[in-house]
Amino acid sequence: MASKYQLENNLFYYEGSDVPHNKFDIKESQAIHEIEKELLTEAYVIFFDELVESTIFDEAYFISLHKRTFEGLYEWAGRYRDFNMAKGDSRFCQGEFIGSSSKKIFQELKDDDYLKNFENSDVKVFASKLAYYQCELIALHPFYELNGRITRVFFDMIVAYNGYRFIDYSHVSPEDYIDAAIECVQFADCSKLEQIILLGLSK
Ligand SMILES: Nc1ncnc2c1ncn2[C@@H]1O[C@H](COP(=O)(O)OP(=O)(O)OP(=O)(O)O)[C@@H](O)[C@H]1O
Ligand SMILES: [Mg+2]
Repeated sequence: MASKYQLENNLFYYEGSDVPHNKFDIKESQAIHEIEKELLTEAYVIFFDELVESTIFDEAYFISLHKRTFEGLYEWAGRYRDFNMAKGDSRFCQGEFIGSSSKKIFQELKDDDYLKNFENSDVKVFASKLAYYQCELIALHPFYELNGRITRVFFDMIVAYNGYRFIDYSHVSPEDYIDAAIECVQFADCSKLEQIILLGLSK
């Protein structure tokens, strides 16, 4: 299978595959996905257990999700990319602007008190805030790989902090989720994502 990314840095995957170079030199797609899945499941338990009143959902926290979840497998875990990246017709944030764009997004999130005060708010207002920031991070796409999953963990920890269950995305097909992501990246429109998140939120 050809790499699904159009990368300037095409040495990232094993030749002719969608498997990133990894510490165990595993080259089979299914094997690597299984390991990633296990690591993510463990991470959910760890990060959920670590949530306390004073947890801050800042950029360092976001990066640490990626680093701590995947550093046993990938040398580049927790590191931002510095090259350009696209999927289909969507071009993500240019490599050279990732640092500055990320600072902006997380400053805005800080001004919103990291969405820590939504336990008693209207769920629709919460969903629209979550969708706005998820859209921003989808368009940023700062890591080499695993952006979707780490972004979802990040918002799952925020909703858990506010007394909600992790967002349930099972009501949406992968294709529809990607469609919503395309709207975010290409048209800066997070309304589809907002509907998905709203349907997936429950206490
Ligand atoms: N064509 C596209 N246009 C815009 N955004 C896209 C497109 N395809 C995927 N995305 C976004 O990129 C994410 C996938 O990025 P990446 O492969 O780095 O993460 P992942 O965790 O491996 O993926 P997934 O979300 O499929 O589990 C998706 O979750 C979605 O947010
Ligand atoms: Mg991927």
